[in-house]
Amino acid sequence: MPENPLADLNPALMRPEWPAAGALLHVGPYELWPAARRLRLHGKPVPLTPRALDVLVALVRHHPGMMSKNDLLAMVWPGLVVEENNLQVQVSLLRKLLGRNAIATVPGHGYRLALPVGVGEAAAAALPSTAPGALLGRAGDLAELGDVLRHHRLTSLLGAGGVGKSALARHAAAAAGPPVAWADMAECAGSGDVLEAVARGMGVDGGAVDTLARHAGSQPCVLVLDNVDRVARETAALAQELLARLPALRLLVTTQVRLHVPEEQVYRLMPLAIPPAGCALAEALDYGALALLQARAQGHDHRFTLTEATLPDAIALCRELDGLPLALELAAARIPALGVAGLLRRLGDRLPLLAKSTGTGPARQRSLHDTLEWSYDLLAPAAQALWCDTAALPTWFSLEELMARRGGDEAATLDLLGTLVDSALLRFDAGHAPGYTMAPSHRAFALRKRADIAHTSPPTT
Ligand SMILES: Nc1ncnc2c1ncn2[C@@H]1O[C@H](COP(=O)(O)OP(=O)(O)O)[C@@H](O)[C@H]1O
Ligand SMILES: [Mg+2]
Repeated sequence: MPENPLADLNPALMRPEWPAAGALLHVGPYELWPAARRLRLHGKPVPLTPRALDVLVALVRHHPGMMSKNDLLAMVWPGLVVEENNLQVQVSLLRKLLGRNAIATVPGHGYRLALPVGVGEAAAAALPSTAPGALLGRAGDLAELGDVLRHHRLTSLLGAGGVGKSALARHAAAAAGPPVAWADMAECAGSGDVLEAVARGMGVDGGAVDTLARHAGSQPCVLVLDNVDRVARETAALAQELLARLPALRLLVTTQVRLHVPEEQVYRLMPLAIPPAGCALAEALDYGALALLQARAQGHDHRFTLTEATLPDAIALCRELDGLPLALELAAARIPALGVAGLLRRLGDRLPLLAKSTGTGPARQRSLHDTLEWSYDLLAPAAQALWCDTAALPTWFSLEELMARRGGDEAATLDLLGTLVDSALLRFDAGHAPGYTMAPSHRAFALRKRADIAHTSPPTT
């Protein structure tokens, strides 16, 4: 994960060489064209020395993180040994022009840009809609989540592993307006790690809530806490403390496990939309699942294109993979060697097929099996056992059928069903009778787990 994941939205932010034309960034009220080395306020040029512009551009590239003095010196005066006061002079100049608080000092370390950074229209337009950072089929979610974020201080983006929570959060946060800080909690194991990850995300040295509170003050800020799954309880405690101490803070959490605090507003992210069978090609590509499959397959082979002839298999493939973006990406990688029809035929034992051969990316996303294993491990043993049992029920089942099959206490079973629905391992559709179902890939995984458990547990006599 790069220091500033929002920067992926605009390759110009992270690439050492700026694109030659067009890239426009909004830095607070200013407009910055890094390639053209131009800074304007309300259309008028801002007179900056070349070195001060370099410092500003370097801080923008690392926004919202901080840059150490040494890194700044190396970036702005490459290959030269320069006294630190040269840097201070440029920072003072920038503060004089952009405002006293535009650049925050991180004592003993370096500097951090304290103005919001957004991608201007010219730069956004330069990003093709199918580029890896582009968000497909989520226009509705982006707008709705934007509304939720405006009205609530703590939003949990809840959904299955690989459904696109982190991807949507990046775009929603970039569109949110105020400065954004980002903390990836995937590697956290306890409350100490959680605090440290948040401090790092906010560009603060040392993990103490007091320091965070002093640093953020009353500045508006959206803090994204990404991949909270395994530390939901610890994150919930810290989130409550931060919300109480920082009146202008908003939190966006991506997670498979709810925080269960009163401030929490849940946004349930569903898989990408799948075209109905028999849909015409042009119309079908408006559905997110098919658009993603086509875009990623083209990424693996520029010659790939869907035709009316391959469309039915491609739609069936999207349905088999339940519109799950991660599964679609893993499947697309197999298309050059199997074709859509061949892939669909071999999908019966889908789990071995849906794995990356390159071994890149976070371990939990290297295969669909790893993603499901991660989700399964988040469950308490009783929820694991219930989930495995539901996989052996008909495709759609009711609470009554489940109780008839398993027995036990209904209220306790409902609690467990609630957890399984929250983590999207089961789906409940109030408009369908019976109302519970599970995705085909989840069923395959759960049945295998069930068989493993039956195999390893001692026979009852
Ligand atoms: N709407 C989308 N458009 C394009 N790619 C997507 C979309 N949603 C998810 N992806 C891709 O699918 C993969 C899994 O998404 P991610 O956001 O990491 O899932 P989650 O955070 O829910 O586990 C990533 O490679 C991501 O870039
Ligand atoms: Mg994620």
